[in-house]
Amino acid sequence: MDDAHALTRLHTEGFERGWSTGEFEQLLSDRSVLGVVSAGGFSGPNGFALARMAADEAEILSIAVARSARRQGIGAALLTHLISSLAQNRIAALFLEVEEENAAAIALYRHFGFAEVGKRKSYYKRADGSSPAALVMRRSLA
Ligand SMILES: CC(C)(COP(=O)(O)OP(=O)(O)OC[C@H]1O[C@@H](n2cnc3c(N)ncnc32)[C@H](O)[C@@H]1OP(=O)(O)O)[C@@H](O)C(=O)NCCC(=O)NCCS
Repeated sequence: MDDAHALTRLHTEGFERGWSTGEFEQLLSDRSVLGVVSAGGFSGPNGFALARMAADEAEILSIAVARSARRQGIGAALLTHLISSLAQNRIAALFLEVEEENAAAIALYRHFGFAEVGKRKSYYKRADGSSPAALVMRRSLA
């Protein structure tokens, strides 16, 4: 909960519609939500990943790394820790949605063995009026 402000800053840096600190506080107080944070340095956390668990499945809610800290393996480290924590919680399958034009995130997920299992057309609404599709990806943890 102490990291809610830092996560808000990281989310705003990574996404067109940033989540508020209130939204983060709500998620972090939800016992079905599991999160990992990358400690960063004196300036505080420089990355986080959150997932919601339901029965034996989970969904990645968000993952973001500070712009200045990308391509240093932090996103991969966050996913590694998130997946191992979910597996310890008996989660058998992990899902996520990603904008089809988000090449960096799709590359990261493929690197981790996620496979495309669906596509939601015109799923996101951008400020410029465009509405890219979401890819639905899945990885087995069992
Ligand atoms: C996606 C994101 C979390 C990746 O974090 P990161 O710390 O830069 O990722 P890593 O350095 O751990 O990269 C791991 C692998 O992912 C892939 N990858 C990551 N960024 C990439 C990029 N810009 N282009 C191509 N591949 C990329 C590569 O396979 C990389 O392995 P490599 O460096 O050995 O080639 C980061 O770009 C980010 O915060 N983006 C904005 C928020 C976002 O889009 N989140 C995902 C929403 S679904």
